[in-house]
Amino acid sequence: MIGDSTITVARQYLRDNVPPIAAGAIIHDNGCGTGAVTRAVLETYPELLWSSPKATIYATDIDPACIADLEKRVTSRGWNSMVKTKVMPAEDLSLPPSTVTHSFANSLIFGARDPPKVAAETLRSLAPGGVAVMTTWATLPHAKALDRTRARLYGEDHPHIKPEWYEASHVEKLLKDAGFAKITASKVESGMEHESMDAWTQLAWSWMGQPQGGWTEQNERDWDAHRSLYADECLKEGFQVGEDGHVRVHMVANVVVAWKGE
Ligand SMILES: C[S@@+](CC[C@H](N)C(=O)[O-])C[C@H]1O[C@@H](n2cnc3c(N)ncnc32)[C@H](O)[C@@H]1O
Repeated sequence: MIGDSTITVARQYLRDNVPPIAAGAIIHDNGCGTGAVTRAVLETYPELLWSSPKATIYATDIDPACIADLEKRVTSRGWNSMVKTKVMPAEDLSLPPSTVTHSFANSLIFGARDPPKVAAETLRSLAPGGVAVMTTWATLPHAKALDRTRARLYGEDHPHIKPEWYEASHVEKLLKDAGFAKITASKVESGMEHESMDAWTQLAWSWMGQPQGGWTEQNERDWDAHRSLYADECLKEGFQVGEDGHVRVHMVANVVVAWKGE
């Protein structure tokens, strides 16, 4: 739904924030979704596919549908010898201790059931000197627009993402408390584009507009009116409609990089 916004973030931190990934690396794409980090790693370092010693990417997610989708891509691209996909909760990683050289959790931590457990498991799985990257959103206009639309329509006051997750310092503290040795934070720019505001709200409202208790027939009758309210809130949050009718929005990610002590 959010297009290339997460792979755009991964491409930048792989280029600017993470030490080069070399042959023999053991990489974890934690909460991989449809594999944004896996794809960004293989775009940035295509030589890993035939490197010796062999590099491995473990691409894991709690959602079997994501893993099935990524598995198809892995097979169609011929990545099977390097990319191992598995359904796995980030709170309970079936990866051996002290083995992973690079652990990526792109847009995962704020949606996980137990973030401190995720941090602890990430540290446990990392090799001494290994690096972890966790990203969150500093600016996520469609989520803010969603919160206001849901508040107006359904009287809800719980946000899509808890406010503390917009601050990099929240992730820094989480990783410090877990025992990471060195931690840095920075921001990277991203964004998304959709064919039209109509296409965007059809997609977004069907994913995120459902009231607690499920859709009703009245919701069906109100579908266009509710989408229109959501479109107004998106525009207030900075969505821009171009001359081509495409809708674009600017997003900013927090990138927190943390090292396990030697
Ligand atoms: C916003 S998506 C990000 C996907 C991908 N990392 C990316 O950058 O595009 C969050 C992903 O985390 C997964 N997820 C949520 N909670 C999880 C958990 N506790 N353990 C593993 N994966 C989880 C979701 O199923 C979803 O695929």
